[in-house]
Amino acid sequence: MHTKGTIKRIISFLLHGERPPIYAQISYLEPNNRLKGKKIIVTGANRGLGYSMAKKFTEEGADVLITGRNEESLKKSAEQIGCSYIVLDVTHIKFIKPFFEKAYQMLGDITCLVCNAGISLHEKDFFQITEDSFDCQIDTNLKANVFIAQEFMRLKLSQEKAGNILFISSEVGELADNRPYGWTKGALNSFVKGIASNFIEKGIRINAISPGVTCSNMTGLNPNEDLFVQTNKTKRAYLPEEVAEIATFMLSDCSNCLSGQIIVCNNGKTINTRF
Ligand SMILES: NC(=O)c1ccc[n+]([C@@H]2O[C@H](COP(=O)([O-])OP(=O)(O)OC[C@H]3O[C@@H](n4cnc5c(N)ncnc54)[C@H](OP(=O)(O)O)[C@@H]3O)[C@@H](O)[C@H]2O)c1
Repeated sequence: MHTKGTIKRIISFLLHGERPPIYAQISYLEPNNRLKGKKIIVTGANRGLGYSMAKKFTEEGADVLITGRNEESLKKSAEQIGCSYIVLDVTHIKFIKPFFEKAYQMLGDITCLVCNAGISLHEKDFFQITEDSFDCQIDTNLKANVFIAQEFMRLKLSQEKAGNILFISSEVGELADNRPYGWTKGALNSFVKGIASNFIEKGIRINAISPGVTCSNMTGLNPNEDLFVQTNKTKRAYLPEEVAEIATFMLSDCSNCLSGQIIVCNNGKTINTRF
């Protein structure tokens, strides 16, 4: 039974296109030490998805180390989360090896790596792509991830120990795109699927999460404001905390049988062409 107010809202919606508010109801698993004993690096975690994942991993009992370029915000975030940090621009490939040496000293035996740092330059069309915008996105979203993963795998293989790598890709990597951001994520997915089976016998798992449009600086969507997103199946933006829940499962031993998988978090939007 509709109340008067609701009927008025529906009429107003029909007449003026005014849209009802969008609410998000999300559920969390109570922290239960699901990541106890894990030592996890999360790249690009001073805000956004990286921050939410690092916070959740810490709540689940892991020792976490976050990276980013801006020391001030990184330090503040690390204090809020209760984890350690190292300043690292992931595109500076020559600093990756010393970074792992320092991280090893601070964290001990690193078990998991989450390659999250990424940028999107949102070029409006093909002719807005410049050499700089192309290089910058390829360097950050693809090249850096390949060499960070390579160094981590070297470390794990030399120690003859198991490891777990999780990349944060994107739903756009599932589709053909006309911009470098999508090309980097498509290539990243190919990398994950192509390399995972080479290392599973050594105990190294490699997977990716591909979120749909999620609240963050990258999308300019603020979780405290309107969550409406026309292009998401749910018509609302996803929240970084939702991605963090899935990431926790992917780093936990409960997902030990998963490797080479792209976990697409968009309610099936990119599975087929007919909605
Ligand atoms: N939000 C979405 O809708 C969405 C959807 C699908 C996938 N993703 C992916 O999720 C990941 C996180 O994005 P977000 O939405 O949380 O964006 P965000 O709020 O802009 O955060 C990006 C993070 O990456 C870091 N970063 C960027 N360039 C870096 C570099 N060269 N070296 C080190 N850190 C760097 C940033 O830190 P500094 O700038 O301080 O260095 C920041 O911590 C990205 O890989 C993105 O492609 C996001």
